[in-house]
Amino acid sequence: MNVSKLIVANWKSNKTVAEAQEWVESFLRQEKRTNRQYVICPSFVQIGIISRAASHDSSLSVGMQDISPFEAGAYTGAVSAQNVRGYDVKYVIIGHSERRKYFHETYHDIARKVESALTADITPIVCMDRGDISALADEIDSRWHSRIIPTYEPVDAISTFGGHEHAIAEVIKTIETLRSTFRCEQVLYGGSVDPENALTYLQPTEIDGALVGGASLDAQAFLQL
Ligand code: PGA
Repeated sequence: MNVSKLIVANWKSNKTVAEAQEWVESFLRQEKRTNRQYVICPSFVQIGIISRAASHDSSLSVGMQDISPFEAGAYTGAVSAQNVRGYDVKYVIIGHSERRKYFHETYHDIARKVESALTADITPIVCMDRGDISALADEIDSRWHSRIIPTYEPVDAISTFGGHEHAIAEVIKTIETLRSTFRCEQVLYGGSVDPENALTYLQPTEIDGALVGGASLDAQAFLQL
């Protein structure tokens, strides 16, 4: 049985290039737990920094925070899978509640982005609250279901949206719903996961890892997860 947990950092729109570089140097210097795989999702301009670091550390890989729903072409401002070819991008966060709230992304957009990512062999980490599950299961083509990593991220659990702590029994129940709905191997939890509560969310075998915002910004805190 593979007990390794996937810990995904979502840096959002934080960090200068110099800060990203410092974070990476600190990360590479420190001891890692052997049962963790780390994915860093920086802003697009810092993908090269993480990608280079990942080539020196097999526990580390690079992800995007979003992807264009279109292939390469005349779509000003959008970043397509083709743009990041060569950086060995393995994951992409899709449908984060901040994308939904501030950029008005719809379920249909999310489904198109899932298709864009998988066509380029990039694994989508698809965020959903409980109320989104059935709509997303309908909207995302069923042939892609088992290739996504659904992530239970209750909106009110996100640190900047209230940081409400969800009882572990409820989290596990929803994780199991996601696993059976999408018939997928890995399911993550996200929302205010930090070094203090990490064991609660990372010890249960049902939860395959975490999506981490605030606590990922400091390399030392991140490695305590
Ligand atoms: P948080 O963010 O860990 O700061 O709550 C998680 C997220 O928004 O993905």
